[in-house]
Amino acid sequence: MEMERTFVMIKPDAVKRNLIGQIISRFELRGLKIIGMKMLKMDRETAEKLYAEHQGKPFFQELVSYITSGPVVTMVIEGDGVVQLIRKMIGNTDPKESPPGTIRGDMALSKSENAIHASDSPEKALREMSIFFTEKELLQ
Ligand code: TYD
Ligand code: MG
Repeated sequence: MEMERTFVMIKPDAVKRNLIGQIISRFELRGLKIIGMKMLKMDRETAEKLYAEHQGKPFFQELVSYITSGPVVTMVIEGDGVVQLIRKMIGNTDPKESPPGTIRGDMALSKSENAIHASDSPEKALREMSIFFTEKELLQ
């Protein structure tokens, strides 16, 4: 049986505050495997593709501006039930509703500058990782 994969991205606010290592540590401590990783600055077109589901919503333009404002760290992480597990580990979109111990509960600044992105379903994970990684770039 093939292990599940998810797409994770450390957002500009967390990269700026030097939180890359602390965030990655949490996944490694949990025994999850990073099988791809790239630091990059997203262009507008890529941001709009990643967040296509939110096109037209009131926060969309602000979201695209913010996510393209500085470098991000993109990752593909593999593990048993990893999509749901990492969503649990990151907490709620709004840090005020994220319990301590979650990544957003401990590190996010606000609902928009919330430190990290993770796919919310296996289907979305495949779609999102294919925006940033080719199959060849994912290592076992
Ligand atoms: P969403 O997919 O709803 O949240 P999540 O990242 O938890 O899957 O929204 C994507 C991003 O859009 C979210 O991380 C931050 C931003 N956003 C806002 O700035 N304001 C909002 O009201 C919402 C719902 C999201
Ligand atoms: Mg989402």
